[in-house]
Amino acid sequence: MSYTIVYDATELITGPATSTDTGTDADATDSAANAASDPPDDPVIEVHSDAAVVLEDGIVLETGSSEALTREYPVQNAAEAIDASGQCVLPGFVDPHTHAVFAGDRSDEFEAKLRGRNYQEILADGGGILRTVRAVREASEDDLTERLLERLDSMLAAGTTTLEIKSGYGLDTETELKLLSAIDRADKRHPIDIVATFMGAHAVPDGMDADEYTESVIEEQLPAVEKQGIATFCDVFCEEDVFSVSQSRAILEAGVKHGLTPKLHIDEFENLGGAELAASLEAASADHLLQSTPDDIDDLLEAGVTPVLLPGTAFGLGDEYPSLEPYRERNSIPAIGSDFNPNCYAKRMGFAATLACVGMGMTPGEAVRGITDRAAAALNRTDGVGTLEAGAPGDLVVLEAPSYRHLPYRYDENVVGSVLKDGDLVVEV
Ligand code: NIG
Ligand code: FE
Repeated sequence: MSYTIVYDATELITGPATSTDTGTDADATDSAANAASDPPDDPVIEVHSDAAVVLEDGIVLETGSSEALTREYPVQNAAEAIDASGQCVLPGFVDPHTHAVFAGDRSDEFEAKLRGRNYQEILADGGGILRTVRAVREASEDDLTERLLERLDSMLAAGTTTLEIKSGYGLDTETELKLLSAIDRADKRHPIDIVATFMGAHAVPDGMDADEYTESVIEEQLPAVEKQGIATFCDVFCEEDVFSVSQSRAILEAGVKHGLTPKLHIDEFENLGGAELAASLEAASADHLLQSTPDDIDDLLEAGVTPVLLPGTAFGLGDEYPSLEPYRERNSIPAIGSDFNPNCYAKRMGFAATLACVGMGMTPGEAVRGITDRAAAALNRTDGVGTLEAGAPGDLVVLEAPSYRHLPYRYDENVVGSVLKDGDLVVEV
């Protein structure tokens, strides 16, 4: 038997504490009225001290006390043995929302925002997403793939082992397919497990109105995306002056017919009623949610739609952070994504966790849930990814620190040391 053992971990986080609820089932909302919205006293994660994890054939075989497991699985007989004394072992991080494949440089827009221009004004002037679209149309697929691979290296070194990436900087069939193909090529060459989302409906391109473009997404892009066979999800930017609720519905319903599971960007700037749409389509996730009402959150949770909050976006735009209160009242933990894109140049999930704590008031344990099992739920993953329970993929990070709290606490450094993906040591310190 060939096994890997990570032993003597000061802390091992295996996943949700057995006594806590993820809040995605309807029952959790029944008790909303009486639930407290204070931070939980009890940890929402299962923390084991002096622990070990044994991996075989790329999956988690067993976790438990280091003493017992090193007796059963001796270190000297292991194919790989990692001494994690003084360190904390966590599930590999899952980033459920990025726009990580792009070309061009929008650093001047960062400065324009500091001088008072807002995101929508920049977009209305042909900047923002539309500017990245021009750069991506000029870039070759090789170039996009290489740029993405470099970003993946730094994400992996910071603990991301599963990653969602959206297209959406093409806004025509050829370029959307080029982006998805670059994602697929990078996925095949890199240890990070990538889930591709088709987001042709990310903005309305120059020369078309939203209705005309909606029709071309449905009639031209979606059939081609299905034929290409790379994308799992279909996402739409449902927002004032971008895509209306009815245009978003038409695109996502067509996406379902082409085998793509819905996701939605909603309520980032204006609340158009996107939560009801996400609920009625049983979308995998609804993301941003800055303007969502408590009723909207009810709709999402009752329909099993995972809410995804993106504190990095609020940080970059200097906006208010989403409130945690409605989630706490419903005994629910939202997923946390990086939203890494040219407007939010932050790809480390440890930093997203810091912002979730400092900006939104999450506890470090909640933030860990947000970037592990809750993020996996936003990708409809049911294979245990985002946990280290027996049978889950052998994706784990070893912090150069004794406790999970150091992940959000030490916010200007990468506290991730070694990383294992499917049982293989892919980052070694
Ligand atoms: O999720 N809001 C829409 N899309 C991205 C931003 C993309 C961009 O500005 O390039 C987001 O924040
Ligand atoms: Fe986004």
